Amino acid sequence: MTESLTVRDNRTGVEYDIPITDGTIRAADLGKIKANEDNPGLAVYDPGFVNTASCRSSVTYIDGDKGVLEYRGYPIEQLAEKSNFLEVSYLLVHGDLPTKEEYDAWVHEITYHTFVHENIKEFMQGFRYDAHPMGMLMASVGAMSTFYPDAANISDPDNRRLQIIRLIAKMPTLGAWAFRHAQGKPYVYPDNDLSYTGNFLSMLFKMSESKYAPDERIAKALDTLFILHADHEQNASANAVRSVGSTQVDPYSSVAAGVGALFGPLHGGANEAVLRMLRRIGKVENIPAFIEGVKAGNERLMGFGHRVYKNYDPRAKLIKQQAYNVFEVTGTNPLLDIAQELEKIALEDEYFVSRKLYPNVDFYSGLIYEALEFPPEMFTVLFAIGRTPGWLSQWLELVQDKEQKIARPKQIYTGERGLTFVPRDVRWA
Ligand code: CMC
Repeated sequence: MTESLTVRDNRTGVEYDIPITDGTIRAADLGKIKANEDNPGLAVYDPGFVNTASCRSSVTYIDGDKGVLEYRGYPIEQLAEKSNFLEVSYLLVHGDLPTKEEYDAWVHEITYHTFVHENIKEFMQGFRYDAHPMGMLMASVGAMSTFYPDAANISDPDNRRLQIIRLIAKMPTLGAWAFRHAQGKPYVYPDNDLSYTGNFLSMLFKMSESKYAPDERIAKALDTLFILHADHEQNASANAVRSVGSTQVDPYSSVAAGVGALFGPLHGGANEAVLRMLRRIGKVENIPAFIEGVKAGNERLMGFGHRVYKNYDPRAKLIKQQAYNVFEVTGTNPLLDIAQELEKIALEDEYFVSRKLYPNVDFYSGLIYEALEFPPEMFTVLFAIGRTPGWLSQWLELVQDKEQKIARPKQIYTGERGLTFVPRDVRWA
């Protein structure tokens, strides 16, 4: 039996049967509901797309009530424990796990596309000494479209694959150089003998040594963090990538839009706010008073709550584990004690329990990044490197989806109409 929705338009008394598919109705079907022939038809008003599906997607599945996150059907816990970032990137982009040959070829290709054109280096060196690394990343990803004009040919699958490899390979190079720039240190070229994250650490921290030897435990922790950030279905930056990509522009321009969206404090910036909050609390004894302030509505407990997850964010659990691994190498961060106690108290408190507020991905990640000696401005750059395969998988799905069109929402016009323009010399006489 086909499922449907019967709607009666009380303006006209007419009833409409609207098919329901996959738990959704088509907004275009509502457009057939008109008060009269001149009426444009009923539309949906949904600022922030709170209840609007913009696409069909087989990349990432989230069940927010149960705290489930899967990439291409594989639970995030299994991928974080048993896979690595490049294999997960392959899975996201291709939809399936690679064979040994496919995996080796993928890793080889990404490893050998890590260098960027020398002019990109000069372009980055032109930024002010205190430029925010996210601004540098966004600009340099966009600038890459001028170095690879062939990327505009988005209808050729081989060409699309090449740009995807270039982007995943070069994001760490651009991110590391943005970091070095702020420190006034020379940019470090990629070392293709190292792993993806090992090479990233080398480009970040190498000084005069002829060969940088990354700490494998740190490289592994960073790799896991990249896996945990790799995709999160139709979040704000994926939506930005899809929206810009729907114009059929090249993927560098689309991904630059994603970096811009991620830069915003409502999206990629909350982990920095968690660190500031923990520092302000200062010691465990101050937590009860802080919690009372939150409950009184004075401020929010940063790193808690999520629009989709009404349970423990599965990424937060895994990040907490990684924090212990990193602190074994770097020494513990005293803020961890405050974070743990804060979590314990909040999870037992009626205010947080009744509102289903649990730790989210940002609650513990800032502590790890700080232990690795990243300044707060770099936190979102790390998020962007991890999210790149997700953005590209969403983009790839978009450009192959026959149902997709240029993203062009409607509006409810609230301005004036039909005014008569009076020229300046008459208006000001
Ligand atoms: N601390 C205290 N109270 C909270 C919090 C919090 N962190 N989050 C939500 N609430 C309360 C809120 O005051 C409201 O209470 P009431 O019903 O009494 O008015 C109720 O819980 C529902 O909140 P909401 O604002 O309607 O929920 P939302 O889905 O619109 O907001 C959120 C989600 C993530 C913006 C919000 O939980 C928040 O501001 N959290 C802190 C910031 C944060 O950690 N952001 C990172 C999000 S995860 C990163 C990502 O995936 O991009």
